[in-house]
Amino acid sequence: MKKTSLLQVACLLLAFAPARALENGLAQTPPMGWNSWNKFGCNVSEKLIKEMADALVTSGMKDAGYQYVVIDDCWQVSRDGEGNIVPDPQRFPSGMKALADYIHSKGLKFGIYSDAGTGTCQDRPGSRGYEFQDARQYAAWGVDYLKYDWCNHSTQEVKSSYSTMRDALKASGRPIVFSLCEWGEEAPWKWAAEIGNLWRTTGDITDCWSCTGQYTRGVMEILDAEVELWEYAGPGHWNDPDMLEVGNPGLSVEESRAHFSLWCMLAAPLMAGNDLRNMSAEIREILTNKEVIAVNQDPLGHQAAKYRDYGDWQVWSKELSGHSTAYAVLNRSDKPKEVSEYIGPAKKVRDLWKHADIALAEGGYFRGSVAPHSLVLLKVSGE
Ligand code: GLA
Repeated sequence: MKKTSLLQVACLLLAFAPARALENGLAQTPPMGWNSWNKFGCNVSEKLIKEMADALVTSGMKDAGYQYVVIDDCWQVSRDGEGNIVPDPQRFPSGMKALADYIHSKGLKFGIYSDAGTGTCQDRPGSRGYEFQDARQYAAWGVDYLKYDWCNHSTQEVKSSYSTMRDALKASGRPIVFSLCEWGEEAPWKWAAEIGNLWRTTGDITDCWSCTGQYTRGVMEILDAEVELWEYAGPGHWNDPDMLEVGNPGLSVEESRAHFSLWCMLAAPLMAGNDLRNMSAEIREILTNKEVIAVNQDPLGHQAAKYRDYGDWQVWSKELSGHSTAYAVLNRSDKPKEVSEYIGPAKKVRDLWKHADIALAEGGYFRGSVAPHSLVLLKVSGE
């Protein structure tokens, strides 16, 4: 019988080796920043983006950990005779390098958007066929983060399409966070960890507590889509339940608080999507609650799992470093709920919205009233 050569053994081992996570060293905790889409859609300009970078600093958000300022769709208008992508000259008259320099001068990072197909979702030029040229251009401008959409992809195969841009970003020589946006259609949690740092899990979020449109979903619908996905998240590779609607008009302050807390529990990227220039004190307080952000940024990188489901109210839990666990006691209903939930023996229980230590009821129970569309967020430490 013919002997198997060493080369054949090596090939076999490679073929059956588990997929390796993308090793660009980025997004070791969920990325935090601001993105233009949820509030401004196509109405982007260098003036707006600079004002938002300024507001990230003056609002205290930068100090709280927000870093990336990302221009979503509509910054690009065409390609020149050499195939170079052309930013809108009216809206970005100083060009992208100058804008990146401005953002960097504030100690922030710069993000941009493109699409794996021939056109973006707003029919601006996509990167299909120009991946390496675009990535080189982004690196020359000083881009630190790329969101990469999936419109106009025709018969393209998803994994190879996104892998091409991953390779192009790597070849550019600049560390660039790679954010996949194919809306969870092909279960990217199963294959995208070796390609990108984060991947969208659903269609677009909209600013409502609970609703379903043709392409959009409310906060509760997106939450429900994350239940099974906790095992796929970790340092460098995150499930992305879409950008924040905190502070946008369709959510009440309580709903914004719950939405933010849940995204922190889910180890979701925290990309604010509101107008940072004129937010209320309450919304700023939500977005900059350092105790809640610490749950999101915990170095273990665990995503919360649904721990109990009583229909109208649920308990989600997220393991944290330092022998601690965060619990979110969520009231999804329109009425206040009296809840009683066994938490167990604990050295310390902290209410992360009250910024106060609390005592559990006898027997290790959390007992209390949770307001409608709201939650109580607890950090429980030690036994
Ligand atoms: C898609 C994405 C959104 C946004 C728009 C821009 O719908 O899912 O997040 O980027 O495209 O056109």
